[in-house]
Amino acid sequence: MKDMFSLNVQSIEISGIRKFFNKVAEVPEALSLTLGQPDFNVPEKIKASMIKAIDENKTGYTSNAGIIELRQQIASYLKGFDINYEAEEICTTIGGSEALLSVFMSIINQGDKVLIPSPAYPAYESCVKLVGGEVVNYQLNEDFTINFEEVKAVIQRERPKVLVVSYPSNPTGAFLSKEDRDKLYEFLKYEEIIVVSDEIYSALCYEINYYSICQFKDIKHKVILVSGFSKMFSMTGLRLGYVCAPSNFMHQIMKVHQYNVSCAPSIVQWGAYEGLKSCLGDVEEMKEEFKKRRDYLYDRLTAMGMDVVLPKGAFYMFPSIKKYGLTSEEFCERLLREGYVAVVPGSAFGVGGEGYIRISYSYSMESLEEGMNRLEKWLKESF
Ligand SMILES: Cc1ncc(COP(=O)(O)O)c(C=O)c1O
Repeated sequence: MKDMFSLNVQSIEISGIRKFFNKVAEVPEALSLTLGQPDFNVPEKIKASMIKAIDENKTGYTSNAGIIELRQQIASYLKGFDINYEAEEICTTIGGSEALLSVFMSIINQGDKVLIPSPAYPAYESCVKLVGGEVVNYQLNEDFTINFEEVKAVIQRERPKVLVVSYPSNPTGAFLSKEDRDKLYEFLKYEEIIVVSDEIYSALCYEINYYSICQFKDIKHKVILVSGFSKMFSMTGLRLGYVCAPSNFMHQIMKVHQYNVSCAPSIVQWGAYEGLKSCLGDVEEMKEEFKKRRDYLYDRLTAMGMDVVLPKGAFYMFPSIKKYGLTSEEFCERLLREGYVAVVPGSAFGVGGEGYIRISYSYSMESLEEGMNRLEKWLKESF
């Protein structure tokens, strides 16, 4: 049969992160620092509230957007960051992943251009291609902040419909400073463009204040916020995210969401509701631990002579490997097979990721210490 498979689906690949993860299984002695998954348990009160929800048989469909109690709680949580959405402007989703695909499906027509940072979380590019959009990359500064000259030039040249902004960033750990947030706002104010801001790591920001393009009321009509609880409450497998957007967007997003999944899991919604009410202290403790690990990793990598930018959010470090004269794929393959440490090639995050590796510090201090010892030894023996 001709064209048995969707051309859009054929145009994308399984994520490079997963591909490398599968390779790691071939080297049983390897220590893996590849996954973007916190190693903490789900806070006890969240677990208890989910058990209670099961015992109370809260197992039916919820409204498509999710239980109102949770949406109100999300609204008040976001207000603490000066981000203002009403419960009616919030839809809970099956993780940040479903949120992203539902958003892109709702706003992209065949051939629409979407501006995506490079390097970035691979799902943006794949979701855009899946729904027939055209990806246009924008490069970042050396410290992975937005290169405004570049973004403005690309917008002038390509006239994209959508701009994706992703801070704190996976894979770089970069965050949006107040200065950059304001600069972004100043020029977006005059652009006819939709901004999709993925802030799934917002709870893991090591700076005192948090800045977001969603904090401006006068551009709210063209901004969509994607976020979720996978990282915040260390519940990646429980699959709960959310989208915030004004009603005209939400009306369309809800249709996609409804026909795809009906609603997010009821039990987990009750868990997240409890989490926002009473587990923010647990999140702070987790963040403090991540910060210690970040500082440890940064000190070890710089002592080894690696070029690395100190991350300000999320739990990834993205050192340059350019001086070793290997592609990121070659570097990671050799490090895995000769040094027994698994990290993700930067190229898995797009063209702008070539020349870097991603190390996740969502692993115990002991694993990080052992991983760094092995990396140091391998670097000394190999270069
Ligand atoms: C930047 C970013 N956005 C979205 C997601 C998807 O999150 P979820 O696991 O909630 O689907 C991830 C997961 O790693 C991520 O790193």
